[in-house]
Amino acid sequence: MQCVGAQECSAMRRQSCFSMLLELVLGLMPFEVGSAAILSFENHCSYTVWPAIISRNGPTLGDGRFSLAPGKLAQLIAEPGWSGRVWARTGCNFDASGNGKCLTGDCGSLNCNGDGQPPVTLAQIIIASGTTDNSFYDVSLVNGYNVGMRINVTGRTNDCQYAGCINDLNGNCPPELQVVVSGSVVACKSACEAFNAAQFCCGDDYSTPQTCSPTQYSEHFKKACPNAYSYPYDDVSSRFTCSGSNYSITFCPTG
Ligand SMILES: *[C@@H]1O[C@H](CO)[C@@H](O)[C@H](O)[C@H]1NC(C)=O
Ligand SMILES: *[C@@H]1O[C@H](CO)[C@@H](O)[C@H](O)[C@H]1NC(C)=O
Repeated sequence: MQCVGAQECSAMRRQSCFSMLLELVLGLMPFEVGSAAILSFENHCSYTVWPAIISRNGPTLGDGRFSLAPGKLAQLIAEPGWSGRVWARTGCNFDASGNGKCLTGDCGSLNCNGDGQPPVTLAQIIIASGTTDNSFYDVSLVNGYNVGMRINVTGRTNDCQYAGCINDLNGNCPPELQVVVSGSVVACKSACEAFNAAQFCCGDDYSTPQTCSPTQYSEHFKKACPNAYSYPYDDVSSRFTCSGSNYSITFCPTG
């Protein structure tokens, strides 16, 4: 920072002194800062899932991976301002050093090297960084579907909507989108992945909210799962905001 003239320089010194004082006072007032969120992961599936977590802002949580047997609960703490993506991997086989593959949601090894291989049901969470901020959360089928997922937010308010896909889309997947392994549908592709066409992927001439419309495939997803993204510009009915502070993420939710 530069100042010209004595008056300006002294004003600037006063200002920087004031902002230092303000930072000190804010640092001493923990109630001015948002509170940490507890992320609870519950597996209601009849099979083991390997949750994967990729942080976009803040530290990796739970080493980014752990396995969750049917009926089990795991809890992690996310600091204010944390954001990231969560999905479930299924049918995994890892050796003692974490090398191996998963049938769905694979991301390289037990410790993810990147995003999950589609089709995968993807949750995105942005935790409020201050007491007056809102948190954002959504579950997306834009990259397809592998496991049912629901996010509930609990805490300061109790009127927050759930995000997610409760119906079993594998059992209700159009034949041309099915991923079949040993005679069972293990995942349901998005139309974008299945046909790689701009109309489904919202690319090229379809790259704006005005030009990319729902298709018969996204409408099929939306009908089964009204609280999840069915195509990239599905924000209005799929992205939720809440001032609550704890999150419960259920795999294979019912009801
Ligand atoms: C999550 O939200 C759904 C829908 O609002 C509700 O039926 C369910 O009881 C909630 N579950 C938890 C654990 O809060
Ligand atoms: C979040 O969960 C923790 C542990 O159960 C609890 O102590 C805390 O009060 C919860 N926060 C809110 C805002 O409900």
